[in-house]
Amino acid sequence: MGKHPSSSLLTVSDLRKSFGGLEAVAGVSFDVRLGQIVALIGANGAGKTTTFNCINGQLRADSGQVLYNPASLTTEERIRLEKEHELQKTDAPQPHDITGRLPRRIARLGIGRTFQITATFGSMTVLENVQMVLIAQKRAWRRFWGYVGNMYCDEAMSLLDTVGLKSQANGHAAILAYGDLKRLELAMALAGGPKLLLMDEPTASMGVEERDSLMRLTHSIAKEKNIGVLFTEHDMDTVFTYADWIIVMHRGSVIARGNTKSIKTNAYVREVYLGEEKKHA
Ligand SMILES: Nc1ncnc2c1ncn2[C@@H]1O[C@H](COP(=O)(O)OP(=O)(O)OP(=O)(O)O)[C@@H](O)[C@H]1O
Ligand SMILES: [Mg+2]
Repeated sequence: MGKHPSSSLLTVSDLRKSFGGLEAVAGVSFDVRLGQIVALIGANGAGKTTTFNCINGQLRADSGQVLYNPASLTTEERIRLEKEHELQKTDAPQPHDITGRLPRRIARLGIGRTFQITATFGSMTVLENVQMVLIAQKRAWRRFWGYVGNMYCDEAMSLLDTVGLKSQANGHAAILAYGDLKRLELAMALAGGPKLLLMDEPTASMGVEERDSLMRLTHSIAKEKNIGVLFTEHDMDTVFTYADWIIVMHRGSVIARGNTKSIKTNAYVREVYLGEEKKHA
């Protein structure tokens, strides 16, 4: 547990996950705070995606704990989640154990995720993709008869505006350029009204400009909406520019954590991670 549990949105403690004899995540601990952008970095196979999967319930950790702090929720959100039995009723919101919960239940608590492989419906329009997420989020399936129509149209448009895709709202998602698809995915993740966004290699396969533009957008959204962001990224310039806090993983373990300056100058990180990267370049 961090020194300031009340200010932590997410607290990961001693998380472990093995595949056969391989300990992919070997006791990982860290915090993410509201409005903070945290980069989880490390060479291929370091255990970053496995850590993400254990946090959002895609994988069941062998041991360890994932705590989510509902203090970040508004009273309205808390009451709704208590009614749906997603949160326990308490007078003072306590960090809530979400270890091993199903992904869709974790999403309902306000933890959104974007994937390395984009998950959009190509045959729908850009706008309809966002509307679908809003319908699911608001559990409005009863009013949904296979045709989204105008359901949550204004809200979806406003999200598309936020990510700069308003002008492409009525085009099919299948014809979007790669960078725009990533923006759509971000809009879809934001449709769930997240307090925390998990982004696994959001800029993979992007050129420098596109990457910078997506990260600049993510940064401004995180600061404006006070959302915590945990992301993985292989490009060190991007990490050093946009992360408030950096966690370095190596073979399943955290070998360093700190701000850009401290990670840049950490001799051990340079040797085992940045050094390794240079060799592969
Ligand atoms: N489902 C699985 N079954 C078996 N081994 C797995 C599985 N998923 C991951 N691994 C192994 O666990 C280790 C950590 O993988 P993980 O995908 O978490 O790394 P990563 O840091 O995300 O790497 P990358 O930067 O390449 O995405 C690797 O050795 C990988 O081969
Ligand atoms: Mg990965």
